[in-house]
Amino acid sequence: MDPLDSRAFYDRVAGVYDQRYAYHPAIGARQALWLSQMFTPGTVLDLGCGTGRMLGPLAQAGFRPVGLDCSRAMLARARRKGPSRLVLADARHGLPFASASLELVISLHATLVHFAGPGELEGLLSEAGRVLAPGGALVAELPHPATYPSETMPGAWREYQPGMSCRAAGPGLEEIRLEQEGGLCTLIRVLRIGDIEKLFRGWRRVEMHPGFRGGRFRPERGELVVVVAWK
Ligand SMILES: C[S@@+](CC[C@H](N)C(=O)[O-])C[C@H]1O[C@@H](n2cnc3c(N)ncnc32)[C@H](O)[C@@H]1O
Repeated sequence: MDPLDSRAFYDRVAGVYDQRYAYHPAIGARQALWLSQMFTPGTVLDLGCGTGRMLGPLAQAGFRPVGLDCSRAMLARARRKGPSRLVLADARHGLPFASASLELVISLHATLVHFAGPGELEGLLSEAGRVLAPGGALVAELPHPATYPSETMPGAWREYQPGMSCRAAGPGLEEIRLEQEGGLCTLIRVLRIGDIEKLFRGWRRVEMHPGFRGGRFRPERGELVVVVAWK
């Protein structure tokens, strides 16, 4: 399996994703509320929507959600949850939306770390900027870099989260292994705070939040980085 191919990885994980890896539904409701307080509800693209946990809460909060994902199996789960608009596409090859047609793009639960190949994340952010209407924003939830366990021996597996290991796989890259899925692996990009600042340099305004509960962001420690970037 190509370690950069998220589609194959998530097609294999889809059947157990909601039980083992998804956020609790209460978190989706809180995230949708936070978004509705921050932005005037309009059309929102959930980029890498997975099994669609955000689509219902977003609609309830007044948004018009569109879910996009490259995994047919993840989208099949999303379809069972309700009648949202769903798009099957690999966002590494562009976003199939007209320029300036969306008010908000969200990409939650570390989805952007999967854009790990050279230039993939830069290309995706440029596409997000293209599809956003003037004044629109991108909200990306990423793991805080402090959550990655420090390397003890070069290339050794370390426990990342229960049931999940990681090991260094090159500059800015980690390989993630899912123990319960027979050691299924994928490559992810580790974004340090400086990397995030550099990636979003061309955006009109950029904020970093420690999550969806409010509070002050701390660059040196935390669990999440929620980046809000306005076009
Ligand atoms: C960690 S899951 C997060 C799912 C969802 N955003 C959530 O908050 O639960 C990452 C999702 O991103 C999707 N994904 C990864 N790479 C992608 C790509 N290149 N194009 C579209 N979707 C992608 C995967 O298929 C998977 O469903």
